[in-house]
Amino acid sequence: MANFAAITGWGMAVPERVLTNADLERMVETSDEWIQTRTGIRERRIAGPGEHTSALSIAAGRAALARAGLDAAQIDTVILATCTPDRPFPATACAVQAGIGARRAAAFDVVAACSGFVYGLQVATSMVRSGAARNVLFVACDIFTHFINWNDRNTCVLFGDGAGAVVLQPSDEPAGLLSCVLGADGEQEDLMAVDAGGTRLPATPELLEQGRQYVYMNGREIFKHAVRAMAASSLDAIQAAGLSTDDIALVIPHQANLRIIEATAKRLEVPMDRVFVNLDRYGNTSAASVPIALVEAVEQQRLRKGDYALLTAFGGGLTWASAVIRWSAE
Ligand code: ACO
Repeated sequence: MANFAAITGWGMAVPERVLTNADLERMVETSDEWIQTRTGIRERRIAGPGEHTSALSIAAGRAALARAGLDAAQIDTVILATCTPDRPFPATACAVQAGIGARRAAAFDVVAACSGFVYGLQVATSMVRSGAARNVLFVACDIFTHFINWNDRNTCVLFGDGAGAVVLQPSDEPAGLLSCVLGADGEQEDLMAVDAGGTRLPATPELLEQGRQYVYMNGREIFKHAVRAMAASSLDAIQAAGLSTDDIALVIPHQANLRIIEATAKRLEVPMDRVFVNLDRYGNTSAASVPIALVEAVEQQRLRKGDYALLTAFGGGLTWASAVIRWSAE
């Protein structure tokens, strides 16, 4: 049994291809000005052939292992948060396990859409604390553009692809996840979904013809739910950690929309200079957005040893999740 699960390694991977707002202007009826003012996004990365979910996850996972100074053989559990697996079956975490060479590790996926990193961090941390796992590689990756109808301007400007990974190891010092608040509202599952291709509605030529394999969403409703749920669960997570918002050095929110982030920060009464934003370069990378932002925050020294950070996310389901972490690495 360990008291805490410290984050001892971290890494990220994004596809090579950059799709700018100017590129999108040539594809649908939109403008750089509309996209920037409504979302804050300037460009995003789009996965090409060979850059599928396990491939990006393996790249991010290797970087996290190297940073932790661990050999893949020392990893006993591989967890992958994704809602865009390589294949419907089996779990993509198994391909990641094989790809990094973690032969002794258990492997499974966690599905909570854009909240997947915080949900999975809670699962991984609980396993380390209970003694069920010792060295966990936890990756969050989504190739959300796989579900995009590139003729639908309501969705195609929002998403990008990527992966972020962390290594968790037992620690007696306060480190890693200190508190976590998870939530879901399945009554609202139709606010954002992909209809065809599952067991409820298997993909048929007719459904594919109708484009039912693509994501649809009610952006305005999701916007409202997102701000409410992220702000409320953030305050609960801060309180559960025995802290106040003034103690939080950096807020690392899900990178869906700059206006959602600003509205949430306002409710938390945290100034934007204590909020990390990188969606201008990546768009909404779903489950990968929080760990990619975490990795860049650490690289830019916006998060230093001993700092408390608030992670907060929301996504399809609906799901939401907020957590306070203490950064313990140099
Ligand atoms: N370019 C130009 N015009 C557009 C575009 C576009 N790309 N997209 C929509 N519009 C139009 C709409 O058609 C609408 O026109 P109308 O008034 O003539 O009908 C107008 O712009 C305004 O639409 P709104 O929906 O009011 O725009 P809003 O300010 O709400 O912004 C947005 C839309 C960006 C989608 C916003 O609602 C949002 O970000 N919502 C959250 C969505 C989200 O983050 N989803 C991901 C959840 S995370 C996960 O689980 C993966």
